[in-house]
Order: sequence, then C-alpha cells, then structure tokens
Amino acid sequence: MCGIVGYIGKQKATPFIIEGLKRLEYRGYDSAGVAVHQDGSIRVAKKTGRVANLDKETARHNFTGTCGIGHTRWATHGGVTDANAHPHVSSDGKIALVHNGVIENYVSIKKFLTGKGYTFASETDSEVICNLIAYHYDKEPETADSSRLLESVRKTLSHVEGTYGMVVTSEGNSEELVTARKGSPLILGIGKDENIVASDVSAIVARTQNVVYLNDNEIAHITPDNFSITTVDQSSITPVIDTVDWSIENAEMGDHAHFMIKEIFEQPEALENAMRGRFSEDGSTAQFGGLNISANEFRGVERFMFCSCGTGLHACMVTEHLIEMFAHVPVECDYASEFRYRNTPLFRNTLFFVMSQSGETIDTLAALREAKRKGYKVLAVNNVVGSTIAREADGGIYQHAGHEVGVASTKAFTSQLLIGAMLALYIGRMRDLSYGAGVDFVNALKGTPELVRTGLKQASHIQAIAKRFAHYEDMLFLGRMSLFPIALEGALKLKEISYIHAEGYPSAEMKHGPIALISEKCPSVFLAPKGELFNKTVSSMQEIKARKGPVIAVITEGTVLPEGLADEIITIPDCHEAVLPIVASIPMQLLSYYIAVERGCDVDKPRNLAKSVTVE
Ligand code: M6R
Repeated sequence: MCGIVGYIGKQKATPFIIEGLKRLEYRGYDSAGVAVHQDGSIRVAKKTGRVANLDKETARHNFTGTCGIGHTRWATHGGVTDANAHPHVSSDGKIALVHNGVIENYVSIKKFLTGKGYTFASETDSEVICNLIAYHYDKEPETADSSRLLESVRKTLSHVEGTYGMVVTSEGNSEELVTARKGSPLILGIGKDENIVASDVSAIVARTQNVVYLNDNEIAHITPDNFSITTVDQSSITPVIDTVDWSIENAEMGDHAHFMIKEIFEQPEALENAMRGRFSEDGSTAQFGGLNISANEFRGVERFMFCSCGTGLHACMVTEHLIEMFAHVPVECDYASEFRYRNTPLFRNTLFFVMSQSGETIDTLAALREAKRKGYKVLAVNNVVGSTIAREADGGIYQHAGHEVGVASTKAFTSQLLIGAMLALYIGRMRDLSYGAGVDFVNALKGTPELVRTGLKQASHIQAIAKRFAHYEDMLFLGRMSLFPIALEGALKLKEISYIHAEGYPSAEMKHGPIALISEKCPSVFLAPKGELFNKTVSSMQEIKARKGPVIAVITEGTVLPEGLADEIITIPDCHEAVLPIVASIPMQLLSYYIAVERGCDVDKPRNLAKSVTVE
C-alpha cells in the first residue's frame, strides 16, 4: 500500500525521490520521509501528512547527496506520527530502511534485539527489521567488496516471516543500495549512470523506461552503474529488462482538477484500447492473445469462477450475468478475501478468473494461488503489465486502460466490464450464440466508446444534480439484473470519495427491509433502463416516493416517467444489453465525483484508502 523510491546515481537524490513519492502518493499518504547520504552520514527527514509537507521540510535541509531512499506511508503498525514514518534508522545509526508489507514475527525479533541493546523509536514492525539488519551488519566482516550489506539483509530475511518490499542503505556507503521483495512489488529502473528502485513504475518513467520486475524472494544489489540479483538462498538470477510502454504524461493530471475526472473522461480511449485487435476477422466473436488455453479446452469449461475485491468484484458480477445470459454457462463470483479461506468445492471443469486493476491486491493474489494449488488454471484480467498477478496467472487479458492514479477506480472498471462482455461473447459463440447475434454483439461493443462520449456530455447536468444532493448523509442505489452490480458500484464510489453512507440493492429488494430507511433525508438513485423490468422499477420508485424519499432516476433516452415521480432525471443512450452496464456506470461515476467535490473532499486521496491493497 505504501510507496517506495530509492535513487543512486550522479544527480541529487532528494528532488528525484520527492517527485517520485508525489507520483506514488496515491498508494498511501499518511506520512512520508527520505534518508539521504550527506557528508559521510545518513540524514533523515520525515513528516506526517502529504509529501508536500516533506518537500518543505527537505527544502530546509538542502540535501545534496546522490544516494537515498524515500517512502510514503499507509499506516499498518503504529499510528500516523513522524516517528512511525519511514525511513527508519537502526539505533546504532548504521542502517536506514524503507519497507512495505507486514512482518508477522516482529514481536519475538524485537525482544531478541532489545536483549542485545538495540532500542526502538517507533511502534513499527519495519524498525524491527532495520535493527535486525544492523545486528547482522555489525557481525558481518568488513569487506572490500560490497557484500557486507547484502549479506546482512540476506541473513535478516532468513529470520523474517511476513511480506516485504524494502530498500536498505548503510552509513558511509553511498555507492550501494540493497533491495528485496516478498509479497510487495518492487521494480528496478535501469538508467544511464543511475539506477532507481520503486514500488511502482510511475516513479521511474520520468528517467527511464527500462525496468526489471523483481520476483518474490529476490534481493538486488544496486550501484550507480550496475545491479545484480540473487535469491534469498543465494541462487543467481539472470535479469530480464522490460520496456515500459507508457511515459510520464500518463501519470500527470494535465488541465484536470483531479485524476479521477481525468480518468472518467479517458474512458472512450481506454475502451478502444481494450478492444484493439480482439475481434475475429468475420466480426462475429472476440479473440484474445494471452489466454494460454486452447479454444478446445475453453469449450470444455462447465463452470467459471471469478474472484476479485471491491470494484473488481462488481465487474465480475456483471460478467457473471453476461456469460450466463449469452453463453448459458454457470458462473460463480466471490470476494477473493473470502474464497482464499472458504475451501469451496470446485467442479472439475471449472476455469478460474481473477480481476485486478493493479495486479497486486493481496487477497486476489491469495485466491489465485489457492485455486492454482488446487490444480486449477487461473486467468487474470489485469491492467498493469508485469504485475504480480499477471505473472503468476496461467494466462490472461491485459486491459490496456492506461495508468489509473485516482484511488476510486473508473476507467479500469469500465474496461473490465468491456472485457467481461467480450468473454461472454467469446464463450457464447463457442456454444449457442448465432453468427448474426455475434455480429450484432461485436458492433455494439465497437460502438461503446461513442456511447460513453455521449454519456459524458451530461457532466454539467450531473454536476448541478450533485450540488442539490451533496448535503445528504445517506443514499441508496438500486438496479436490477446486470445493473444491480452497477448500483453496488455507484454506492461504493460515493462512499469512497464523499464519505456519504450509501448502499446498493436490487430494486425489488427494497420492500424486504431497506425501505425502512426511506424518508425525505435518504435519496434513492434508480437505474431504470427501458426493458421488461422497467415498469416494475417504476413501481419501486413509486413506493419510495410515497414515503417522501427523493428520487434520482437514470433512464433510457426517450423513455417517459410518470409526472413528478423523479426529482431528477439523467438519461443514458439506448444500447445493447452487453454494453448497458458500461453506459450506466458513467452517471454513477460523475455523480459521486461531483458530490465529493461539492463536499470539499480530497477526491484522489480519500481518507483511510490506498490505491492497491497489498496487506491482508
Ligand atoms: O487493484 P484491484 O482491482 O485489485 O483493487 C481492488 C479494490 O481494492 C479496488 O477496486 C477498490 O475497491 C477501489 N478503491 C475501488 O474504487
């Protein structure tokens, strides 16, 4: 969840690290810090709050060193204080460390180290490993080559239980950094006369697009002009240098007020990218390059299982609906966090899918591993090339939605919906979906970016509605069939960024309990597209109106509602069933965004949240 940047080279380290931390702030933003080699010692600056506070603090110090490490924190062990912020320095002053992850056996290690005279300034598990490295460093013979720090880290890791992405530096040695990974991503950026290590490529692409993704249990030794990788148990690794296919502009906000609104407006392009090259020549079905499973094997699947978390799970639920509707194959969805412990029986011919924007969510990764352990093939729908989930899955589909910075997922969500629809088409066409229906389906998908552009034109209308509804403290989101998950998503989006209590339900469930909440203080957002359930949804609206509940209705263009039933109406373009969830998502995103802005909330960095959840 936290962000890490380490730099070693010929330039000043601090400005680069601060810039990188700003780009990583979306991963955690409780506090931030840097440790830089300066005049033979390690100098540290740490501040609670945003990286901007740290920026001011480091400006006072004028650090000029060319080797340093930095961190932006999302608190796990210990409150949000300067002392708990990273980097941590060992009590003998010899080692500085930044760490992401959770050390499970830190209590016993701390006890051991206390007995050896080490002291602790923070409540964190990270400071404990910092001191353990110092302990081993102290015992390690001083060598002319640079193996002393490396071997101290290696010895430390052999005693550590838990997860880590860490970067370590030692006093008096500004010519090396050591970094290690287990369960928390780390990437090396290979530059000219400089090398970088970061938890996310967005902190690297300003300098280089050449990267090496570290794997679990690997340790890298980095100098300004070289690097080497070994495993914790000393096997050597031949690194593969990848090229990142996006540049710094993708990580900048441009003229937009927030990343979230930028990313909402990037959706037409993200959808186009998700479809590019993925339709058959006859235009009747989808095709995917990286499934690593033959069409024949796919045809033999009797059940699909989809696991994800948060917004990703809502995309899975829509996919479930579409696969069952168009391909008539049973699908089950589960929270990855539940599946990993549930020990659910799976049928033999089950194909397992995970969906994860970041590809680093620990619960989703654990579900993937659990399914693989049981002998199932696992495919991943994922937006981040080279992510852990992408690498551990047997195959999958990259979303190509572009870098998503806003903590509240938008373009990555609709691109997952689109890929879910393409899967439904692909599976359907292997079964009973006719050529003609396939062609219609493909044409509908191809038209989605334009429909989304049309939906985005409602932004100022929705902004006006948001002004009127921003003061409410409770809201319900109601939808049916494929739009029930969109109601859940609308509620999630609103609570994430505006802190309004919101819940999603199938509209017809209202009368089974939630209707007790209805009053003039609790508005309901109805997703009411035209179709066979439209009149039933109108009846549900009437039940709300009869109890003085304000109603915002999202209806298909050209549909008419009974006079006075809705307080506000948002229209969406008429579209194919497979595309409807995408089209209906746009007003949900805009409404929550404008309400949050109206309430003065920090849209891109909502309280208590972080972009990728790499702790359990
Ligand atoms: O990166 P992932 O898709 O695996 O993330 C899963 C959830 O943590 C994520 O969707 C979360 O719910 C977002 N904040 C939604 O806006």
